[in-house]
Amino acid sequence: PLPHVVVTRAIPEAGLALLRERATVWVNPEDRPLTRDELLAQAKDADGVIGLLTDRIDAGFFDACPKLRGYANYAVGYDNIDVPEATRRGLPVSNTPDVLTQATAELAFALILATARHIVASDAVLRSGQWSGWGPLQFIGTQLAGKTLGIYGPGRIGLAVARLSRGFDMKIITCGGRKPNPALVAEFGAASLPFEAFLAAADVVSITAPLTDTTRHAFNAAAFARMKPTALLVNTGRGPIIDEAALVVALREGRIAGAGLDVYEFEPRLAEGLAALPNVVITPHIGSATTEAREGMAVLAAQNLIAMLEGTTPPTCLNPEVLARP
Ligand code: GLV
Ligand code: GLV
Repeated sequence: PLPHVVVTRAIPEAGLALLRERATVWVNPEDRPLTRDELLAQAKDADGVIGLLTDRIDAGFFDACPKLRGYANYAVGYDNIDVPEATRRGLPVSNTPDVLTQATAELAFALILATARHIVASDAVLRSGQWSGWGPLQFIGTQLAGKTLGIYGPGRIGLAVARLSRGFDMKIITCGGRKPNPALVAEFGAASLPFEAFLAAADVVSITAPLTDTTRHAFNAAAFARMKPTALLVNTGRGPIIDEAALVVALREGRIAGAGLDVYEFEPRLAEGLAALPNVVITPHIGSATTEAREGMAVLAAQNLIAMLEGTTPPTCLNPEVLARP
């Protein structure tokens, strides 16, 4: 019989079509994440699962699906997966890097520009009919050219953000990463700085790091105190990298100038007071939300899962050590 695949929420058809050629496919018919109980019940008979960053893939999940031969995350970030646990059980798991790099970097740059130039707040004034005409002191923002762009998390997405800054003539510095990113060094002469020096030097900080024990709450009250009062902070990585309550205080008290956020500490909830601040631009976790990226993610997740089911090499496996070597 064909293997049975569970897809925990509808993804673009390009990926589902690939799966349907090789498996029976159950797709969550609701436009919402599965509850934990629903996830465990559906996965019970699954040979493979494609899940989302909102699905917790841990020992309890693996216990609930004894037939499972692989799990493919429909996301590049995989803090929702207990990878060591999957590896202990010999189960391959995968993510979707590369296909969403450009989309996420473009959103980061959109947030940088929107924050630097008060695009959303000024749009709101105009729509509300309160604009009384051009004024020399209205909505004064900050020029990007000549400023220092700090890439926190200098991976693929961080490199793409730096490349987008080229037309803006910014100096690039980086922080974090297991090793220096050779392209950031070669193309931008980017220095990799210790966190405190990085915070003190950056005019714009763009967070493109994964959520790890090191990055969780890295941006807290102490970090905001080290940043320039004119600094802008943009996050397209993961929400819990920022202590969101401390960010609200820092923005309210003018300890940093503004923030552009696509991810939140307790999604879909926002920290109290965040949405009321005029100096933030907030988008609902849409970093990869382009046709190109989402189709690419669907196809890559499907290719990963099919390879896991057929015993071939998944293109972007997170624990390749579990794959049988020929
Ligand atoms: C989205 O946040 C992703 O990790 O792909
Ligand atoms: C994400 O995958 C990154 O490398 O930045």
